[in-house]
Amino acid sequence: MSSEQPSKEASAPAPGESAKPEARQPHIYAITKYGAAVLETKTKPVEKFDEKLARLCEDMFASMYAASGVGLAAPQIGLSLRLAVIDVTVGKNSEARLVLANPQIIHTEGDQREEEGCLSLPGFRGNVLRPRYVTIRAQDVTGKTYEMKGEGLLARAFCHETDHLEGLLFIQHLSMLRRDLIRRKIRKLRKAGDW
Ligand code: NI
Repeated sequence: MSSEQPSKEASAPAPGESAKPEARQPHIYAITKYGAAVLETKTKPVEKFDEKLARLCEDMFASMYAASGVGLAAPQIGLSLRLAVIDVTVGKNSEARLVLANPQIIHTEGDQREEEGCLSLPGFRGNVLRPRYVTIRAQDVTGKTYEMKGEGLLARAFCHETDHLEGLLFIQHLSMLRRDLIRRKIRKLRKAGDW
């Protein structure tokens, strides 16, 4: 999910990360854009919680910060895997970093209607109705199961990223009129070679 306001500090490393001299440079992935089949395909569960997964999550955080996002799902880097990362502080607070492996929404409450965007649909936003409170059950990078209740932007990110893992994008929640308008604009951009 894209941030509400692009942050200029987003590419700075999280506190502590730059202190390790042997730390590998994370790989910054290109973000898959709307039109790629992987974005509209249901993902496969994460099964191996190993060093490779830990590196992948680090790279996903780095790629998300580089794009000033608050959430990034594996299909957005071309991987059909039930995995997403979220940080609603866009790297300002390392404790806000969340790995969601095999997440499920287990409870929702209330409503919120706010503008939402997606790194895979750069330049497009829309008002999306989401629950105000969302509880997820997911596994962390080590495979440990946890539950977390989010409110507001975090609740929205839980829904947005879980949708990605089902092959759904936020435009599916807009009116057909608005969705078709966005699709037409993207078709034009693609013809012009700008997408
Ligand atoms: Ni998104």
